[in-house]
Amino acid sequence: MKFTHELLEKNVGLMMVFIVLVISVGGIVEIVPLYFQRNMTEAVAGLKPYTALQLTGRDIYIREGCYNCHSQMIRPFRAETERYGPYSVAGEFVYDRPFQWGSKRTGPDLHRVGGRYSDEWHRAHLLNPRDLVPDSNMPAYPWLETARLDPATAPPRMRVLRKLGHPYSSKEILQSLEQLKDKTELDALIAYLQILGTTVNEVR
Ligand code: HEC
Repeated sequence: MKFTHELLEKNVGLMMVFIVLVISVGGIVEIVPLYFQRNMTEAVAGLKPYTALQLTGRDIYIREGCYNCHSQMIRPFRAETERYGPYSVAGEFVYDRPFQWGSKRTGPDLHRVGGRYSDEWHRAHLLNPRDLVPDSNMPAYPWLETARLDPATAPPRMRVLRKLGHPYSSKEILQSLEQLKDKTELDALIAYLQILGTTVNEVR
């Protein structure tokens, strides 16, 4: 039997197989080279893994679903860089597991929010956003202020991340117990917000 295009068009099953094949080739050609490009897989200069407090804050960020309203990825467009700062690059996220890029922006992108406001500002804002931004529809998170951290949760988490390649020293892991002592969830979340996007500063 001669293989003609007509055969493909009249046979849905065969057509599906070929569609998958064509799309896979397109995908592989685009995706595979990224694994071998250094600037996609290596940390940008100066990037450090999160400290125990920041790491705990990051978990609270995920638990509270902040990503439902906030992205963490500044795109390389004028409107974005003018508003948020230098656009995000892959090497900034090598210690983010999982990354919090997102695409839903009910609120502003937070990738370069680190250092933009004082700790006090964040404290007041998280306890009641309306105190600072009257029209804000961001929820208030008053329980973060009273919830104490359990220091014992940090070392196992850091050890797992070390297995995945985050360069934590045994000393840092041990010190995490001290770092989380007498801290609240609010302290941790603010520590996380304040480090976001601070490794890359130059305007591109
Ligand atoms: C229902 C959507 C929503 C959720 C959920 C939400 N936010 Fe927001 N957020 C907003 C909006 C809208 C704004 C802009 C108004 C304002 O500043 O309050 C904002 C502003 C912010 C800002 C100031 C950003 C800037 O550049 O001015 C920070 C920081 C922030 N949010 C952090 C958080 C954190 C942390 C959480 C999770 C604990 C969170 N948000 C959850 C909607 C949300």
